[in-house]
Amino acid sequence: MNSIQPVNIGLLGIGTVGGGTYTVLTRNAEEIARRAGRPIQVSFIADRDPERARALSGNACRITDDPFAVVADPAVDVVVELIGGYTTARELVMRAIENGKHVVTANKALLALYGNEIFAAAQQKGVIVAFEAAVAGGIPIIKALREGLSANRIEWVAGIINGTTNFILSEMREKGLPFAEVLKEAQRLGYAEADPTFDIEGMDAAHKATLIAAIAFGIPVQFDKAYVEGITKLEALDIQYAGQLGYRIKLLGITRRRQDGVELRVHPVLIPEKRLIANVEGAMNAVLVKGDAVGVTLYHGKGAGAEATASAVIADLIDVARAATTDPDNRVPHLAFQPDQLHDLAILPIEDAETAFYLRLTVDDKAGVLADITRILAGENISIDAMLQKEAEEGKGTTDIILLTHICREKHANAAIGKIEALPSVKGAVTRIRLETLGG
Ligand code: HSE
Repeated sequence: MNSIQPVNIGLLGIGTVGGGTYTVLTRNAEEIARRAGRPIQVSFIADRDPERARALSGNACRITDDPFAVVADPAVDVVVELIGGYTTARELVMRAIENGKHVVTANKALLALYGNEIFAAAQQKGVIVAFEAAVAGGIPIIKALREGLSANRIEWVAGIINGTTNFILSEMREKGLPFAEVLKEAQRLGYAEADPTFDIEGMDAAHKATLIAAIAFGIPVQFDKAYVEGITKLEALDIQYAGQLGYRIKLLGITRRRQDGVELRVHPVLIPEKRLIANVEGAMNAVLVKGDAVGVTLYHGKGAGAEATASAVIADLIDVARAATTDPDNRVPHLAFQPDQLHDLAILPIEDAETAFYLRLTVDDKAGVLADITRILAGENISIDAMLQKEAEEGKGTTDIILLTHICREKHANAAIGKIEALPSVKGAVTRIRLETLGG
């Protein structure tokens, strides 16, 4: 790039985020140029629907329905990949890198699965692959982890990094409605996609958590090792019981560094309601980061949406504009740590995760039942932190017991739950939800 010329953007996809990016780049052009030191302009757009692109950009730039024409165009300096998926998108990103172009992407799935090869290719070619928009939308969490907190040894990160599921959980709690009913409502309102699988099964959050783990600890991206559990099996009853005990249930992406490895997991979690993050409701995102020097910091904002995500895409474009003429070895490394300094710390299996638990059991309402249960827990060295027993309904003969445990290894909890479920006085399966205090 010539330092007095504008930066020419090739935009792949002009849907929600692409449209927002075009709009904000145009509206704030002067402010952006003052920051970047040169204008940043969209010069070439590829979209399946060229008319849609034309409607937005008029005659301001070239338009095609062939994204490969954009990544091959010598006049394009930076490719902004907003088409999603990981087949064509992967090919396009690799092709752009081969052609010596910088890439800005919001594609968490692509980077969580193929980030190692993409970053290695970019490193070799001396180009930047920037991905602020891939994690928590408009929240600058990548910037915070890679730069703002770079003095710290990061201990753990825990985030509400999927707005769809947070919206659903908020509605389930506030209205006492079951998951399926709230999901339908979320789809009607446009909060959930027609096919919501990636969101509700936790995959989207796991893609983001995988990227967070890599830049927090300086390890390769390892999506295949992440533990992923969504919210589809959560019952409104447990959200109510958790509330009675002073907790909210959130879908969290959690990654924690331990002596023996790294925990990387996405699943529903009870959080004390006194924590700020427990009060993040609706489609908002929030991320807590614990650094050894700074303590716990919290980042909150919109995790999706046209202009919120565009905010992150354009911040990356400004970074690229500033850094494009610098020595590649002196840039912020893709995964925050120098590429030859990445650790091979193992991602721990979920059986070795250390958390507290919420357990709900339906039991016969008779003498000795509780004693049997607490004996089994003690036998696995699991200590009870709190307990709630509901008065048995008249004539029913069974009652619900809710136990909160102290922190234990997941495999010990599994062993105890197996033995508890085998007791004749315990009816059906034990409902188990992990609990994190998220303290400093
Ligand atoms: N589908 C995501 C969410 C937004 O619900 O948060 C894009 O990552």
